[in-house]
Amino acid sequence: MAKNTKLSEAKSKKNDEFYTQYADIEKEVNAYLEYDPDTFRGKTVLLPCDDPEWSNFTIFFAQNFARLGLKKLISTSYAPASKNFNWHSGPTEFEQESPLFDCVKSKACGKIFVLEKDITGDGIINHDDLEWNYLDGDGDFRSEVVCKLRDESDIIVTNPPFSLFREFLAWLVQGGKKFLMIGNMNAITYKEVFPLLKDNQMWLGNGFAGGNAYFMVPEGTAREYATGVYDAERGMVHFRNCAWFTNMEHGKRHRPLELMSLQDNLKFSRHKDIKGSTGYRKYDNYDAIEVPYTDAIPSDYPGVMGVPISFLDKYCPEQFEIMGMCENEDLYDLKTRVYTRQECKDAYFAKFGKQGSYDLNASGVLTIEGKQEKVYQRILIRKIQPKNKK
Ligand SMILES: C[S@@+](CC[C@H](N)C(=O)[O-])C[C@H]1O[C@@H](n2cnc3c(N)ncnc32)[C@H](O)[C@@H]1O
Repeated sequence: MAKNTKLSEAKSKKNDEFYTQYADIEKEVNAYLEYDPDTFRGKTVLLPCDDPEWSNFTIFFAQNFARLGLKKLISTSYAPASKNFNWHSGPTEFEQESPLFDCVKSKACGKIFVLEKDITGDGIINHDDLEWNYLDGDGDFRSEVVCKLRDESDIIVTNPPFSLFREFLAWLVQGGKKFLMIGNMNAITYKEVFPLLKDNQMWLGNGFAGGNAYFMVPEGTAREYATGVYDAERGMVHFRNCAWFTNMEHGKRHRPLELMSLQDNLKFSRHKDIKGSTGYRKYDNYDAIEVPYTDAIPSDYPGVMGVPISFLDKYCPEQFEIMGMCENEDLYDLKTRVYTRQECKDAYFAKFGKQGSYDLNASGVLTIEGKQEKVYQRILIRKIQPKNKK
């Protein structure tokens, strides 16, 4: 009983303690540098929601301060007392040995680390030159103190608390700065997120291989994960569908997808349901064709196409434009048909042979062998035509 109570307590609390690996940060940042070696030159970079004494974000940017040509690096952390889980049981040796150490502030306040000049006098600006202090407050990114730091910065980089993704993104957008942050690919469909992607105010970064990311987590939280998700030996969890979200340019974003024509797809596609078929299916409720795989997008189809959300990882704005997505509210004014409650009930009965309601308005609908079928979440795109090329 006690064990169960503890477990549900842990589950009801939002665990945001996932720590990013150095190699993942390095790989992502390198993609921006390859595109423009001066991406970070002369810039003030803020790393909020960090943990500067442990974080690889702080280590990476401090160690590469000179190579990136940074003007200033600021890193802030969230107070131990405000966290739902604590990775480290107490202050680090570094903090305890500092003349600034304060045992009350150590728990209740966030910290700020700043790197701007060569303090050690060794001729290089790096990790050893970081200066720190307690923040006035717990370091919540929404606090006045951290908002002020955001407003002073040029670029904001972090892996924010997963449970506050929407709020964190809104905070970034409000600041109007360049940013680079980790999130879950599923966030693409959020009402607050998709319009930014559609309007090219934000896009996916270079990314994790296949969306697979491994984060370090506090030991005590291992039991929250299903078998196979937590690797006890490495102290890491495996998350699928992870992505970097950004408004900074990188090369992959401008690399068009290599695609076959519609006729060639019907002849040669590696997908059984496309190869040999008579054509792509049309939705009943959108003037668009259903394209179930990104690599099966026909290069020469001039109309609207419904594609999987993972397409965004390959999206090149010079090749396609994003028209909207299939969703309930017709926010993008693309629906050609809205189903009545009775039609949703009838569709459910036809599909499952019992009473219920099939929410046809939530997605694209195909009629297959006389039955209405909802398809998976789709983004609606169109090939850029010479006349509507941006
Ligand atoms: C996903 S972790 C990432 C940590 C670090 N940036 C990294 O990737 O290694 C998010 C961090 O944000 C902190 N956090 C949670 N809520 C916060 C808030 N409201 N304001 C600032 N930080 C917060 C968590 O305690 C956690 O350490």
